[in-house]
Amino acid sequence: MSTHAVVRDDDYVIDQNWAAYTADQHDVWDFLYRRQRDLLVGRADEALIAGHEALNLNRGGIPDFAVINEELKARTGFTVVAVPGLVPDEVFFTHLANRRFPAGQFIRGRHQLDYLQEPDIFHDVFGHVPLLTNPVFADYMEAYGQGGLRAMQFGKLKNLAALYWYTVEFGLIETPKGIRIYGAGISSSKDESIFALDDPSPNRVRFDLERVMRTDYRIDDFQQTYFVIRSYQDLIRATVDQDFAPLYERLADGVTYPPETVLPTDGVITHGTQAYAKAKAGG
Ligand code: PHE
Ligand code: CO
Repeated sequence: MSTHAVVRDDDYVIDQNWAAYTADQHDVWDFLYRRQRDLLVGRADEALIAGHEALNLNRGGIPDFAVINEELKARTGFTVVAVPGLVPDEVFFTHLANRRFPAGQFIRGRHQLDYLQEPDIFHDVFGHVPLLTNPVFADYMEAYGQGGLRAMQFGKLKNLAALYWYTVEFGLIETPKGIRIYGAGISSSKDESIFALDDPSPNRVRFDLERVMRTDYRIDDFQQTYFVIRSYQDLIRATVDQDFAPLYERLADGVTYPPETVLPTDGVITHGTQAYAKAKAGG
């Protein structure tokens, strides 16, 4: 939101102004909540479902941050703060490093219930905030914020952004019951929560840190590859517990993989047909 004309505090935090949401906006939340919750049965990881329950996101209408923050803070020390939309990288990382999750204050309109590119309150609060009740995932998010500030110094933000994209936004996790969704970009999307798990088009590949950080991603359509972690603890071991400096040195060779890449070294779970992406490209 660097083009926004209004001058505000450096941290971009605004008042959620909960009392100002209209009845129609609360209805939009209720509609989206119910639709996604129904879709996510048997699809979302249990930690995500547990987070929905813990925060009681279904009290009716848009959640009041002051209310959900009490529960969230008690569990992991995280809080949600309202921002107008996307914030500059450094602002975003600083919030995470201090266990604050910046969430969009606005809610999508009825004409864009299925898809919008800017993160609104539904994407942020339904998608991201539930996993912040999980102590392991909360640690990952805080460390990611610190790692972001460090990546800026190395000039490797693009690589670290790929890690966020393929975990926090579009991550899948292997569970005893099968592969499940934990990424917020998937769990808050009607169509992608089916596509990511069931469609033969995308690749599903085991998570490997360097591989992920070398992979380009789509910001305008379904992903062409999803990376599958074994557990949140495993994700912590591969990221929080590693010094990325040597990795950033290796990344200096500039090798980057297009989103549809499958490598001989990949742990392939599904080798996608890419039929969806090809049809979209008009091929
Ligand atoms: N360990 C990373 C570093 O040394 C920081 C980080 C932690 C990055 C967690 C992403 C996620 O820079
Ligand atoms: Co998001």
